[in-house]
Amino acid sequence: MTINIEEMASFCKKKGLVYPSAEIYGGMAGFFDYGPFGVELKKNIQKEWWRFMVMLREDVVGMDGAIISPEAVWKASGHLSAGFADIMLPCSKCKSSVRADVFIEEKTKKPVTTKNLKEINAIVAEHKLKCPICGSAFKDASLVNLMFPVTIGATDSGVTSYLRGETTQMIYLDYKLIQNNARMKLPFGIAQVGKAFRNEISPRNFLFRCREFEQMEMEFFIKPEENKKWFDYWKKQRMKWYESLGVKKENLRFRAHREDELAHYAKSAEDIEYKFPFGWKEVEGIHYRGDWDLSNHAKHSKQKLEYYDEQTKESITPNIIETSAGLDRDFLVFLYNAYDDDKERGNVVLHLHPRIAPITVAVLPLVKNKPEITKKAREVFDSLKENFASFYDESGSIGRRYARMDEIGTPFCVTIDFDSLEDDSVTVRDRDSREQKRIKISELKNLIAGYF
Ligand code: GAP
Repeated sequence: MTINIEEMASFCKKKGLVYPSAEIYGGMAGFFDYGPFGVELKKNIQKEWWRFMVMLREDVVGMDGAIISPEAVWKASGHLSAGFADIMLPCSKCKSSVRADVFIEEKTKKPVTTKNLKEINAIVAEHKLKCPICGSAFKDASLVNLMFPVTIGATDSGVTSYLRGETTQMIYLDYKLIQNNARMKLPFGIAQVGKAFRNEISPRNFLFRCREFEQMEMEFFIKPEENKKWFDYWKKQRMKWYESLGVKKENLRFRAHREDELAHYAKSAEDIEYKFPFGWKEVEGIHYRGDWDLSNHAKHSKQKLEYYDEQTKESITPNIIETSAGLDRDFLVFLYNAYDDDKERGNVVLHLHPRIAPITVAVLPLVKNKPEITKKAREVFDSLKENFASFYDESGSIGRRYARMDEIGTPFCVTIDFDSLEDDSVTVRDRDSREQKRIKISELKNLIAGYF
């Protein structure tokens, strides 16, 4: 049995995974902080993405761009236009508002296929839709751009700039430098992980729709005529990544975008969706962006952004296949995939893949008031911590300590007892099977490494 998204948020807060940001001041919708175990899980997901997308490949390199960029960038990319805006329905009485497409679809069970404000008003009137907070009528629908403006420098002479609405754009701006420095030839990719910001009208479903979130994006530069081949290739690769980290196949699917829902930059797009308790939802997009970005930046910056092909002696504007995953949404995917309220044990178990578990191995002296045992346990802990995310815990009964480790998904618990002092052996408990194995301390590292 799984839990709903509010219960998941409360589990995450209780277990040190994720907290609502600035909670002591009343919090702020759409912003979250990751706690001690959450930050490890998140970093591990990011590390696995980087390993799969960059480290294991010769045709993809990485970069880390600035978060704030000048207005000109976002004008050229189209993010300051209506294409990067959502439609809001403001309440005529209370101060609340809802995102029109999401709200209408929830109420009518039909997708909204228009961005025309008059048509949205007509749908609201036809279905007699009212404000979900106070029940009053809505005012007319209006477009709200999602970009966050910031002023750089002193306010009287300050320059309007923007927090990036997607990490992608920095890749296009630097692509010529990167291509030259890393001596890349088409087809090649540039990957980046980092924060993105969107002034969402109604952030909701915990980490699913936030105003500050993290993206893991890769832009693959190709010859235009090879777009179909590389689109299909990256679709398969990305699905393989989720499955390689244990996400159940039956909870993942592709969904192609309808013509009317394509982003302003996309020629075609497919989402990878996950079956959350609140429905099948997008966690990653694979987009064919054509030459939209490079052509627009070339036009607006008046710089040449073409690629010179040494073989054909031709200059072309490469086309782009993009894979764009949300790190916070993936965090939720891995949590839901792992979550198991084990009635027999009487505690939750997170069956996380050992590669992403916040802690890989916990070292637990069986008793804490015997200095010989705690000394030995500390020695074991010290020998493991260089190689694995390790945790030392001597407080509480052994059952309670196992339960605490189950709840944050620690795959291995190592207990040190009186026999360990005699024979240099320890007991290793497997999180999923609860099987206990007696092995030599000298074999521990190899045993754990075998699961990676
Ligand atoms: N560069 C392409 C791009 O940004 P997108 O479909 O708008 O495409 C890509 O976003 C991914 O970023 C989504 O699939 C989702 O995982 C994540 N994402 C987008 N908006 C988000 C939000 N408000 N909160 C959390 N994640 C979000």
